[in-house]
Amino acid sequence: MTFRYTDVFSLLVAILATTHFLSSNLEFVKFYIEEFKVISNLPVSIIANQYNTRLDGHHHHHHEKKAKVVDICDDFPRDSVPQDTNTTTTFCVDRNGCCNFTTIQSAIDATITANPKRTLIWINNGIYFEKVIIPKTKPNITFQGQGYTSTAIVWNDTANSSHGTFYSASVQVFAANFVAKNISFMNVAPIPKPGDVGAQAVAIRVNGDQASFWGCGFFGAQDTLHDDRGRHYFKECYIQGSIDFIFGNAKSLYEDCQLISMAPPVAVGQKNINGAVTAHGRASADEDSGFAFVRCNLGGTGRIWLGRAWRPFSKVIFAYTFMSDIVAPEGWNDFNDPSRDQSIFYGEYMCMGGGANTSTRVPYAQKLNDIQASLFLNSSFINGDQWLQLQL
Ligand SMILES: *[C@@H]1O[C@H](CO)[C@@H](O)[C@H](O)[C@H]1NC(C)=O
Ligand SMILES: *[C@@H]1O[C@H](CO)[C@@H](O)[C@H](O)[C@H]1NC(C)=O
Ligand SMILES: *[C@@H]1O[C@H](CO)[C@@H](O)[C@H](O)[C@H]1NC(C)=O
Ligand SMILES: *[C@@H]1O[C@H](CO)[C@@H](O)[C@H](O)[C@H]1NC(C)=O
Ligand SMILES: *[C@@H]1O[C@H](CO)[C@@H](O)[C@H](O)[C@H]1NC(C)=O
Ligand SMILES: *[C@@H]1O[C@H](CO)[C@@H](O)[C@H](O)[C@H]1NC(C)=O
Ligand SMILES: *[C@@H]1O[C@H](CO)[C@@H](O)[C@H](O)[C@H]1NC(C)=O
Ligand SMILES: *[C@@H]1O[C@H](CO)[C@@H](O)[C@H](O)[C@H]1NC(C)=O
Repeated sequence: MTFRYTDVFSLLVAILATTHFLSSNLEFVKFYIEEFKVISNLPVSIIANQYNTRLDGHHHHHHEKKAKVVDICDDFPRDSVPQDTNTTTTFCVDRNGCCNFTTIQSAIDATITANPKRTLIWINNGIYFEKVIIPKTKPNITFQGQGYTSTAIVWNDTANSSHGTFYSASVQVFAANFVAKNISFMNVAPIPKPGDVGAQAVAIRVNGDQASFWGCGFFGAQDTLHDDRGRHYFKECYIQGSIDFIFGNAKSLYEDCQLISMAPPVAVGQKNINGAVTAHGRASADEDSGFAFVRCNLGGTGRIWLGRAWRPFSKVIFAYTFMSDIVAPEGWNDFNDPSRDQSIFYGEYMCMGGGANTSTRVPYAQKLNDIQASLFLNSSFINGDQWLQLQL
């Protein structure tokens, strides 16, 4: 099967086509597209410098006009940085050097391994060009950004540049109890062209148990969000990609999220399918994993499957979700291996929109009844009562 990509301009079109989900963030989207276009073609270091120059230029101008000394840290919102408490240690990150650390990795490196408290890493507005790893030895870390439209961690590795898709992520989380709020994770490697091999580029890999994401953004093309293993929760997140853009073998609940396909538009009358939202990787009946999407919004461009069966026991459900007509009528794909049709679990429940018509779905897709659906519809699916409230 071939997937088609055009140039970065199609990304611009794709994203602008989705702005009905995002009208209040249009300026942000335009900005990110500009960054995407430029960054995808230039070394990260050069972009980082240009970005700094722009900031500095602005301040010089300001300086001359007002004829007084303006420190770049005058705007730093000192009062917003939380104080340490009995249960949290706060580290502050600001790329301009206005508080403890200028990079996120240096703050992680400074966290104490055996800290009984949560470490809150408060991250100021800005784009942080760095590849970040949270090792297994550092549980209980929170990233607090200032909004997914204004705070982002960005890198550009691909499967080729990093010994495989699994290591291409801009942020890799191996620790348990990770929390992220109001921040974006991006991979800005060049968008794969038709026939490209090794161009998969993950924005984040979530490998630790009991992780939650609140108001976060995930930006990439192929394989954006590696929802690898463990129990995870995603609330009001924005997730963009093309092929298999949410993949892995985790057990995750996605609530009230925007799922945006940026696969190239498919002409009216053409039947080709060029993307998939999920590729869940459950390999056997013994594995307790699955993706549940509840009250989400699925839109964007291309013609896509809701999921394809990366492994034979792939398990995904969509409930109360609005699906635009970019969803192919058959809905799902067995990875061209009919022997998987017996073991796949693909379900839909109370979905709406032009893509939600189940009358011509593949035969193994299930229309869930109330009892079947009830297992997936709230945080009990991920045993949230044991851990999720503590992370709010
Ligand atoms: C990422 O950017 C660096 C420069 O910062 C560049 O050398 C490298 O080729 C880029 N990687 C990919 C996979 O495009
Ligand atoms: C925090 O710890 C101190 C010293 O152990 C204690 O006096 C104080 O009451 C605690 N504060 C809270 C909010 O638990
Ligand atoms: C961070 O900065 C604050 C305020 O200057 C200071 O009290 C704190 O000790 C610093 N923390 C670290 C880990 O450097
Ligand atoms: C995480 O922090 C909480 C306190 O906020 C503590 O009870 C728990 O043991 C910590 N977990 C780990 C794995 O360190
Ligand atoms: C995220 O930012 C918005 C807007 O500033 C704010 O209302 C919201 O409480 C924040 N959410 C979290 C989880 O930090
Ligand atoms: C990845 O590496 C393979 C083997 O070296 C090469 O054929 C291919 O063109 C590379 N892909 C990209 C996107 O650079
Ligand atoms: C669903 O699709 C079938 C077959 O194309 C069509 O007959 C039916 O009217 C559609 N239902 C709705 C509610 O659009
Ligand atoms: C989730 O739904 C199930 C089934 O309806 C119910 O038994 C359970 O109490 C609910 N859990 C929460 C946390 O609301």
